[in-house]
Amino acid sequence: MSTILDPWGHFAIEEYEKLFKQFGIEPIDKVLNKLPKLHRFFKRRIIFGHRDFDKWLDAMKKGEKATILTGFMPSGHVHLGHYAVLEELRYYQEIGIDITMVIADAEAYAVRRLPREKILEYAREYITYALAIGLDPGKTKIYFQTNYKPIYYRLIQMFSRKVTLAEMEAIYGKLEPSKIMAALTQAADILHPQLKEFGGYEWVLVPVGADQDPHLRLSRDIADRFKNELGLKRPASTYHKFIRGLDGNKMSSSKPEYAIFLSDPLDVVRSKVMKALTGGRATAEEQRKLGGEPDKCTVYDMYMYYLAPDDKDLHKIYTECINGEILCGMCKRRAFERLKEILNVIKEKYVKISESGIVDEVVDFPSF
Ligand code: TRP
Ligand code: SF4
Repeated sequence: MSTILDPWGHFAIEEYEKLFKQFGIEPIDKVLNKLPKLHRFFKRRIIFGHRDFDKWLDAMKKGEKATILTGFMPSGHVHLGHYAVLEELRYYQEIGIDITMVIADAEAYAVRRLPREKILEYAREYITYALAIGLDPGKTKIYFQTNYKPIYYRLIQMFSRKVTLAEMEAIYGKLEPSKIMAALTQAADILHPQLKEFGGYEWVLVPVGADQDPHLRLSRDIADRFKNELGLKRPASTYHKFIRGLDGNKMSSSKPEYAIFLSDPLDVVRSKVMKALTGGRATAEEQRKLGGEPDKCTVYDMYMYYLAPDDKDLHKIYTECINGEILCGMCKRRAFERLKEILNVIKEKYVKISESGIVDEVVDFPSF
């Protein structure tokens, strides 16, 4: 059966294997030896797949003009799922790559149907956290979809001429005008860094969640069709798995009780963690006998993403769990203690950055 990935859906992507077979996403494994530095997200296969990442890495090594672009839809508060992408961006910045971040405020308005004031408020929160997490404001270009240079909008108009509705619906499923606009706008986001007005980067890498792959397929098709007219090349991409929410489904701001927001007060975080779905057994006795199931556990997810950056430590937690040497209550308390440390640092930086006024210095906010 063929499936359509819905980039605007709220669904968790269960079968990552399917993405390889059905959509031609490549497993990340063979590319890893080309990376100058191996972030744990690669080692742990949180970043699990790619398109043309190998070509992008080779070009970068040869000193050709390579860049990274990714985007955020400001449709809710920033949670642990977004944190992963921000950490990924910081990693690329540390190895010396220019970064562009697009704030998808047009998309949030059209597709999520949020009021404008809310969108701008969330956008400010995102940008502030991005800087709090350590993105260098001097080296990160951040723009809003509604407030950019005129040529960017010309791209959207030009792209509309060389795709058909049937082609787009084969990628996205049934479309309406708002989604067509959002998709073409995202193609402009992905492809515009190649224009000389925006830096003339020949190689653009787009690190995203797997749900965004439809936009990459569209952008790659469009690049082929504008090869002569605009000199466009296909963008490369990497795909990450989302951290699950505390109920085991995709973490999303539309289900706040199961998401951990960076802005949650610590006592709220504690009670959320204590209620999280685990891979524990019904009774302590059973757990001691059979061991837990970390692969099913949302608390283990948090260790894997953030709370146990050291591989040996993560392995120890895994072993303790499967051997029934630790019970979930203890394990959750330890998780909370570790999370608290991370959140405290970010919260403190968040306040500093908010008060410094730097966000308005580096980002051109739309006036309405
Ligand atoms: N659609 C993305 C989301 O839902 C946001 C986005 C807009 C984006 N333009 C982009 C992501 C370009 C990557 C590249 O979060
Ligand atoms: Fe999850 Fe920890 Fe319980 Fe294992 S012991 S199932 S890792 S909470």
